[in-house]
Amino acid sequence: MQELESPLSSRSRYAIHTDGLTRNFGPLRALDGLTIDVPAGIVFGFLGPNGSGKTTTIRLLLGLLEANGGRAEVLGRDVARDGAAIRERCGALLEHHGLYERLSAEDNLDFYGRAWKMPAPARAARIRELLEHVGLWDRRRELVGNWSRGMKQKLAVARALLHRPALVFLDEPTAGLDPVAAAALRADLEALVSSEGTTVFLTTHNLNEAERLCSLVAVIRAGKLLAVGHPDSLRARGSGRIEITGRNLGEGVMAALRARPEVRSVAASNGRLQVELETGAGAATLVSLVVAGGGLVDEVRREQASLEDVFLTLMEEER
Ligand SMILES: Nc1ncnc2c1ncn2[C@@H]1O[C@H](COP(=O)(O)OP(=O)(O)OP(=O)(O)O)[C@@H](O)[C@H]1O
Ligand SMILES: [Mg+2]
Repeated sequence: MQELESPLSSRSRYAIHTDGLTRNFGPLRALDGLTIDVPAGIVFGFLGPNGSGKTTTIRLLLGLLEANGGRAEVLGRDVARDGAAIRERCGALLEHHGLYERLSAEDNLDFYGRAWKMPAPARAARIRELLEHVGLWDRRRELVGNWSRGMKQKLAVARALLHRPALVFLDEPTAGLDPVAAAALRADLEALVSSEGTTVFLTTHNLNEAERLCSLVAVIRAGKLLAVGHPDSLRARGSGRIEITGRNLGEGVMAALRARPEVRSVAASNGRLQVELETGAGAATLVSLVVAGGGLVDEVRREQASLEDVFLTLMEEER
C-alpha cells in the first residue's frame, strides 16, 4: 500500500521522537529506554563515552537495527515499519565511511547521486558545489583508495549531504580531521542548518565542538540518558566552584562551610578559599556564613563550568 506523506502532526516540529527505545546485544543492554525529542532544524549533539550506545542509537533510528523495546519516529515515520523511506530522506555518515576505494571521488558521489535518483544536471552541480566546498574539486579524478583519512572523511560528509536530506546523522564527522579542516567542517554544518534548515544529529568526543555547534545536547552513559539541554543550561547545572578572597578565612570559617550540605569540599591556598559546590547550588548563603564567622571578604568569583566539566561530573556521578 502506498503511504501518503504524513500530514503535519503535532510532532512534526520534531525531526526525531523516541520513547523508551531499547536495544540489547545478548546479555548487554546497549541502549536502555531512550526517550528524547529532537526539534527540526537544529544541530543536536549526542555525547557519551566509548561504548555508551551512540552509534547503536543512530542505527536504530535509520532502521538498520531492530529495537527490543520502545519506539521511534524519524521525520514522522516509524523506524520499525518505514526504515527504507527514512533512509531515503536522511543522510548518514557512520563509523565506516562507506566510500568505494576503487572509484574516483567524483564517481563515488555520482554513484550515490544516481542511487538517490538525482537528475543528471542537478547531480553534477551539487557534486561540484560540495567538492569545491571541501577543497577537493581539483582532486576529483583521483582514486579514493589512495586518499588520506581526513580527505576520505570530507568526501564522506559531502556524500551524506549530497541529496540535501532534511536530517543528517554524522557519527564523529571531525574525528581524524586536522584542526583547520575540522573548523571548516563546523562552519559548513552551521551554514547548512541556517540556509537549508537541515537537522543534524551529531556525535562527537570533542566537547568544545558540541558546545560551539549544538543548541541541544544529550549525554548518555551505558545506554542511559543522563542529561539533556542547551549547552548553557547544562553548564549552569554543572558543579560550580567559587573562590573567596579575603582575610580571616581560617579553620573556623572553613569548618562552617564544610558543614553545609551544598558544599563538596573546601581548600585554602594563598589566603583564598576554593569551594566546590554541589550541582545547582548558590553562593549567597555561603558568603553570609563566611562573614558571620568573622571572615573579611574582598572578592567572590564563580567559575563557569565548561561542557567538558559537566560531562566529567556526570560520568563521576554515575560511577
Ligand atoms: N553488533 C553488535 N554486537 C554486539 N555488541 C554490540 C554491537 N554493536 C554494538 N555493540 C555493543 O553495544 C555497546 C554500545 O556500542 P556503540 O557502538 O553504540 O557505542 P558508541 O557510543 O557509539 O561508542 P564509540 O564512542 O566508541 O563509538 C558497546 O558495548 C558495544 O560493544
Ligand atoms: Mg560510535
